[in-house]
Amino acid sequence: MKTIQWSVDNYVDNLSGNPQLEEAAELLRQNEVVAFPTETVYGLGANAKSDIAVAKIYEAKGRPSDNPLIVHIAEINQLEELVTNISEQAQLLIQQFWPGPLTIIFNCRPGIFSEKVTAGMDTVGIRMPDHPLALELIRLTKLPIAAPSANRSGKPSPTTARHVLDDLNGRIAGVVDGGYTGVGVESTVIDCTGDIPMILRPGGLSKEQMEMVIGEVLVDPALNSDTNDRPKSPGMKYTHYAPDAPVYLVDGTFAYIQELVSNKQKEGLKVGVIATEETKKDYRADVVIACGSRQDLKTVAHTLYDTLRAFNNQDVDIIFSETFPIEGIGLAIMNRLEKAAGHRWVRQNKVD
Ligand code: TXA
Ligand code: MG
Repeated sequence: MKTIQWSVDNYVDNLSGNPQLEEAAELLRQNEVVAFPTETVYGLGANAKSDIAVAKIYEAKGRPSDNPLIVHIAEINQLEELVTNISEQAQLLIQQFWPGPLTIIFNCRPGIFSEKVTAGMDTVGIRMPDHPLALELIRLTKLPIAAPSANRSGKPSPTTARHVLDDLNGRIAGVVDGGYTGVGVESTVIDCTGDIPMILRPGGLSKEQMEMVIGEVLVDPALNSDTNDRPKSPGMKYTHYAPDAPVYLVDGTFAYIQELVSNKQKEGLKVGVIATEETKKDYRADVVIACGSRQDLKTVAHTLYDTLRAFNNQDVDIIFSETFPIEGIGLAIMNRLEKAAGHRWVRQNKVD
């Protein structure tokens, strides 16, 4: 299959009547799969009502079929016809944060979606992305659009159309190229079907931001790597984002990381470091890539997946990564780094 690439300017005032988006929307209506930018990462969209269309998403990504998809909408009034029992907390979150990097889990209205979207669950995750191209594309289809991240399963999520093509060229009908995505990590997934909302996946919107609006918010205890509980979000149990070389997270000073690097180099290994703007010039390693600035963790989220992907074009045997405080967007950054590292840590002050 030839994958069409449409380059569309994000910043034009009026996207209505844009011929490229019209063509992409027509393919979605014909049950083809099309990738498009959102404010978090690129999504791989398909008609959420069609088994045939949704099957193509799983096929193109190589995604396990027990992992449900997020459904994207362009107008809040689409929600009523898709879900039931919208709680007061969910309403407040919608008012405050949609469009934005927040997926809310609701009870699903029966008979609306392809069963492949929900993977047989009676709940569904819905979000309204804050990106002009995504919103206009979805509006044009007049459909709810199922869209996981547009990467091959297991790879870092794509933050450019180039990343999408690296993984899926020839496997999908097209990609709308809107340049770099903004947030850089996926949306926060919050379950609003219980009494107290619970974060199932940390993401672009922080726990603290939501607590300001709705009070107490829980975090799925299974996200803590020390427990053996099954995560409530099926996708969280899979290994993800890993570069080809093993990644080790380091809890220690710059000098300690440099010592780890030097020791591995003495063993004859080529060593990479995931650094920050503040430290990148000082490391002596084979490959050093800064994933943003420690002064503003949003820049780390923005660049993280590009950094993880970049190591695959480099000749390294092992990668050491700096780590970040788990506050604000730091919770999502560390969740993704933990997955990329397969939970491997090296600690300077290890107390047994
Ligand atoms: O930012 C994002 O959310 C991106 C963009 C494209 O919108 N999408 C995305 O989708 O990250 P995906 O499919 O890669 O991740 C969806 C996550 C998975 O961990 C999945 O298990 C979880 O959401 N999920 C979906 N429906 C669920 C449900 N009903 N209950 C619990 N978890 C659910
Ligand atoms: Mg994904």
